[in-house]
Amino acid sequence: MGVAHRRLVILGATGTVGCQALDLLERAGSPLRVLALSAHRREAPLRALAARCPGAAMFLTSRAEDHERLLELLLAGDYDVCLQAMVGAAGLPFSAAVLGAGRHLALANKESLVLAGGILMELAARTGAVVVPVDSEHSAIHQCLAGRARSEVKRLYLTASGGALRDLPLCQLESVTPVQALAHPNWSMGPRITVDSATMMNKAFEILEAEHLFGVPARHVRVLQHRQSVVHSLVELVDGSVLAQMGPPDMSFPIHYALHYPARVPAPLEGYSPRLFAQLNFEEPDPERYPALALGWRAAELGGAAGAVLNAADEVAVAGFLEGQLPYSEIPSVCAETLDALPPLPAATLADIAAADAWARQHARALRTALR
Ligand SMILES: NC(=O)c1ccc[n+]([C@@H]2O[C@H](COP(=O)([O-])OP(=O)(O)OC[C@H]3O[C@@H](n4cnc5c(N)ncnc54)[C@H](OP(=O)(O)O)[C@@H]3O)[C@@H](O)[C@H]2O)c1
Repeated sequence: MGVAHRRLVILGATGTVGCQALDLLERAGSPLRVLALSAHRREAPLRALAARCPGAAMFLTSRAEDHERLLELLLAGDYDVCLQAMVGAAGLPFSAAVLGAGRHLALANKESLVLAGGILMELAARTGAVVVPVDSEHSAIHQCLAGRARSEVKRLYLTASGGALRDLPLCQLESVTPVQALAHPNWSMGPRITVDSATMMNKAFEILEAEHLFGVPARHVRVLQHRQSVVHSLVELVDGSVLAQMGPPDMSFPIHYALHYPARVPAPLEGYSPRLFAQLNFEEPDPERYPALALGWRAAELGGAAGAVLNAADEVAVAGFLEGQLPYSEIPSVCAETLDALPPLPAATLADIAAADAWARQHARALRTALR
């Protein structure tokens, strides 16, 4: 079967990435066939999406029965590509099922790699599964590397827009409201990742994601603040050459790349824009504004279950902030304190990771309550 006729499963179809993927396929008149779609709770939007995909099965993962049936479908492997666009740690078993089946995983759910990157990449190597990142930064690096040997890579540079609060005076960070934190200047994304962009916890996760995807140690991964979100990331090779991948801040590009990789298939997208490309700036991120960023390198250094613990603490802290129970400025402290308290937990299996995740959620909830 040609790349263009792949059979597709979309996980997290009702989310920002899931909806963009479906819109893009329709706009492109794509022959890709959607076999199945999932959402968590929101049945009406899921039904509306399924009505656009003749014959597609629907799964609501908040229902235990659907959860199990979807895992079975993914493990059975009767599809070509899975776009994994669920949000949060809950995505991990689904990503593992796709890789266990040896299928092509177009991975937006970065949490899967943050939690269990070592386990997942080993699984993919065993089954011959392909992992193509959807995160724009990692898509950029994937495109710049184009199969290049790890020994030729000196450093990776992840770019970061700086998020919704990049120009807010530091003294006002304490009183930030969810509405302010959710007003991203460049990207339209789900609430969790938008808050994570404002704190740069998103970039901390991306450091771990890059380490696992490309086998480059976190100490060789740098972060550059780049306000325009046009250069999606850079790769420095051992001979000093720097490669960049560029394009408008629109997830349609990396989604299209990940769904069709390794082929390049025509898309109804305009890459070059004289207006957007006119001025490109790069700065060092301010550690005072973005204390969460350093937690990415720290979690990488700690290894084991540290990524799972950092993600769980952040999920609890961000939910607390969005519900008005935790000040914005305490999100990084809840995460740092949970990471500091990390006991020597095993991290060899997905069950170990689930246990570490549960420990961290409990710890972070106690901190959140204390800080209210
Ligand atoms: N948005 C972006 O531009 C962007 C860019 C780069 C990477 N990503 C990554 O892509 C993933 C999705 O992001 P998003 O912004 O599209 O999120 P989103 O808009 O919040 O959508 C999340 C999707 O996941 C489903 N979901 C929620 N909780 C779930 C659970 N416990 N188990 C299974 N499914 C669940 C939701 O279903 P319901 O609708 O039923 O709640 C929805 O379909 C995240 O990992 C994010 O970091 C996103």
